[in-house]
Amino acid sequence: MSNFTLGFIGAGFIAKFQTKALCGVRGVDLAGVYALKGAQELAAYAKKLGVGQPKVYRSVAELCKNVDAVAIFAPNFARIELMQKIVDAVKAGAALKGIICEKPLGRTVAEAEQLCALAKQTKLPTAYFENQLYMKAIRAQLEQLAPVQKAMGPLLMSRSAEEHSGPHEGWFWDPTRQGGGVLCDMACHSIACGWYVLTPYGKPVTYLKPVSVMAETALLKWGQPRWRKDLLKRMGVDYGKTPAEDYATGLITYENPETGQKSKAQFTNSWMFDKRGMRLFMEGLGPGYAFEVNTQASPLEIFIGDQAAEAASDVESALEKSTATRGLLIVEPNEADLYGYVDEIEDAVANFKKGKDGFLNFAYGLEITKLCQAAYMAAERGQTIDLTDPKIQQELRTYKSLIAQGRGGEVLFR
Ligand SMILES: NC(=O)c1ccc[n+]([C@@H]2O[C@H](COP(=O)([O-])OP(=O)(O)OC[C@H]3O[C@@H](n4cnc5c(N)ncnc54)[C@H](O)[C@@H]3O)[C@@H](O)[C@H]2O)c1
Repeated sequence: MSNFTLGFIGAGFIAKFQTKALCGVRGVDLAGVYALKGAQELAAYAKKLGVGQPKVYRSVAELCKNVDAVAIFAPNFARIELMQKIVDAVKAGAALKGIICEKPLGRTVAEAEQLCALAKQTKLPTAYFENQLYMKAIRAQLEQLAPVQKAMGPLLMSRSAEEHSGPHEGWFWDPTRQGGGVLCDMACHSIACGWYVLTPYGKPVTYLKPVSVMAETALLKWGQPRWRKDLLKRMGVDYGKTPAEDYATGLITYENPETGQKSKAQFTNSWMFDKRGMRLFMEGLGPGYAFEVNTQASPLEIFIGDQAAEAASDVESALEKSTATRGLLIVEPNEADLYGYVDEIEDAVANFKKGKDGFLNFAYGLEITKLCQAAYMAAERGQTIDLTDPKIQQELRTYKSLIAQGRGGEVLFR
């Protein structure tokens, strides 16, 4: 049987990571790439890794005609435009079996709703890529603790964090293009993960009802004159004029619809984690049991002394967003697997082959967007947002945070 073929839209950071992830997936080839920049390089990389012989296409339409499924791995601000092109391609006869979209589904609830509506027009299965829910460590703790959970009751509290020292491209830093700062970019992961681990074993991902959201956003490091200047020079974004948060934290309360039991998920995210490199941290506490995941607890440590440091190269191949080239360093030998990319591709393909949505579909992505936007609303208003209030739900549908509007100073400088 021939391999299932994927087409990537976008050829930057995540497209490269997902290409690497394909090394761990059987029966799937990267067969096409369309991107404004970097498509040839990505195609060459895929060939080198032996994960396909991708062709570079000049349009979304051409790409869609030549692959089994497409993945939107382009920046947040291009989602709607690209999804519309996929819809047009399908209407023109492209025989796709599924559509994948990276997090976040939308920069606002309205955008995420639009993405879902566009996907509906194609009648095709969808997969929302939230890699952390596929992490082997997260899945293994669920399996391991399932009998304990059955005896003692589900987890009651979770803490989730994703932190690093700041994104690699200017558009991430620009709240008007990205949709906000670290909350939109990374709290979407931690919010999803917190919700998932609290969910009773075997229940659907949206089983627990989100009841309320408290949150704070702050500009701590990158608002200081020295770092503002650095950011302007390196990324072309002026945080004196259009600031975004480099720190976000919050608390989401959930309710079990059958028992009425409340549970709480804390999230904390920053772009000022000036320690070694990216760290994902998750913790869950239940009655009489707990789990903890720390992606910086690697079994591999290396040491590079001052005299040897000049010889060190490509520290990012050791650990995502690595900040140092010397001293005691950790290496994560297979980050694509560690962070769940391998498993999310496997899941999407397996489901698309059966004509089904991935484990996480666009409708789920919309729910995560709602929670993120409720967090912005909570931080902006200095209030707990009551998600059971129909008026709030209605407001969220048209809400765009001040930070995303480029008016972040009104929130972050007050
Ligand atoms: N799950 C994760 O851990 C994770 C990590 C990084 C990024 N992401 C998400 O992936 C997406 C892409 O991020 P990235 O870091 O790869 O960005 P990037 O800037 O590194 O790469 C973006 C790519 O998209 C291309 N592109 C830009 N506009 C386009 C358009 N209109 N049409 C076609 N191609 C276009 C660029 O040329 C480039 O090849 C974002 O939505 C981001 O949130 C997810």
